[in-house]
Amino acid sequence: MRVVELFCGAGGMSLGLRRAGFELVQAYDAWDRAVDVYRTNLGPHASQADLKDIFTIGPRLAQIAPDLICGGPPCQDFSAAGQRQERENAALTRAFAMLVAVARPRWFVMENVTRALSSTAWSEARKMLVKAGYGLTECKLDASLYGVAQRRRRLIVIGKLGEADGFLQSAIRKAASESAMTVRDLFGDNSPEAIYVHPRMPGKKGLWSADEPAPTMRSSSRRPIPADYEPHPDDALLLEKGAFFTRPFHLGRGVRTLDEPAPAIIRTSRERPRPHYLKQPHPDDPVHPSEAAVLTQAQVSRIQGFPPDWDWSPGRTKRDIDQLIANAVPPPLAEAIGRVILAREAGETIPAIEGRFGQWLRRRGLSPQSVRNAKTRVNRARRLLAGRTFQDPAMEIAALERVGEFLSLPVKTQSDLRSALRLYREWLEEKAARLVRKASKAAPEPNEGTEVSAEAA
Ligand SMILES: C[S@@+](CC[C@H](N)C(=O)[O-])C[C@H]1O[C@@H](n2cnc3c(N)ncnc32)[C@H](O)[C@@H]1O
Repeated sequence: MRVVELFCGAGGMSLGLRRAGFELVQAYDAWDRAVDVYRTNLGPHASQADLKDIFTIGPRLAQIAPDLICGGPPCQDFSAAGQRQERENAALTRAFAMLVAVARPRWFVMENVTRALSSTAWSEARKMLVKAGYGLTECKLDASLYGVAQRRRRLIVIGKLGEADGFLQSAIRKAASESAMTVRDLFGDNSPEAIYVHPRMPGKKGLWSADEPAPTMRSSSRRPIPADYEPHPDDALLLEKGAFFTRPFHLGRGVRTLDEPAPAIIRTSRERPRPHYLKQPHPDDPVHPSEAAVLTQAQVSRIQGFPPDWDWSPGRTKRDIDQLIANAVPPPLAEAIGRVILAREAGETIPAIEGRFGQWLRRRGLSPQSVRNAKTRVNRARRLLAGRTFQDPAMEIAALERVGEFLSLPVKTQSDLRSALRLYREWLEEKAARLVRKASKAAPEPNEGTEVSAEAA
């Protein structure tokens, strides 16, 4: 599938999607340094452009006709930002939605801070996307459950033309690991992202990203990492200290052990502890902040999920590189999302039957066996539909009736499958109506999305 990324930054989301198997055909960002880092690492298809200029970019996208458009419009704290910033961000989130609506790719993926879910900007963008025909899966994901050593909660919205809302929810949930990835998982000997190739000269690199082309293999090349391998001195220090400091949010903890994920990386994550924090550290810090390692830029980049050999030098200043790293979608998170999309596109997964369908059928007097049959039939029909869902129930049945394998089934089986789909639809509609009634009784609540977090898991 061919991808265009809007607001591509240094390319975290693009890298993840490429690893999943997508082809990157175009990327845009307004910041020259972001574009330079992107081009150096991912190829010349990135261009500098102001995406507010939808009259120029829209027709270009329509011409490229990508299968998927992705992007993380700038968020800079929707709620914390000043009004001018909020207006600017709102304009860019709207620009993202307009560009998607103009180019009409089959899929889109948008990333943002979770607070965006209750912003006016997203609510307007959402309306545009729904009007343009997209079914939406909105989820709050914790990156530490998707191969990133960092508890970073982000809003991910996946849209596909013609689908029912929530069409990918269960597959995204299923892709999460049971436990969070820790900093030790990343820097320890069992790091899954690295392969060991015996260095030819002392002090030369021995650990290589599993994704980069390995150096020429020699007879001395071997896996796994031998016990006597010396990691980079900074990583050795981190492992030896067993704890690290990151600038705390508000009144939060500054020190964490290696056996937990890092907190969400921000531009100032690797600042040293300030005198007032050293004097009065957080009571739950596992060691005094003066004993904890201060992360290096290379380590922060790896915690954000970039490979060890990612070249940040075109970002020029330390401060800008810190910003580019902090802005990025962690590549392993993007890769996991990309794999879920490709699996659905290939018809390899189907949406799970949601919630209490079985109980609802039981209340209607169906026997346990009939309930099991109904569920099996819904799943069978959905497999025949290659996992596709439909906003309109009539379209769903019509699509099923165009599937050759369905037509070759006995008439009775065909009718059972149709009835099961209709029953399921009836239940979904009843459930939706109940939710609307509940919401209209309660005070208006912001859209909450589905949450996949370490706590929820
Ligand atoms: C959150 S970052 C995106 C990071 C990217 N998704 C990644 O994974 O690395 C937002 C990006 O939007 C860019 N940006 C801000 N205003 C823009 C505009 N008017 N047009 C294009 N890009 C803009 C910023 O330069 C920044 O790189």
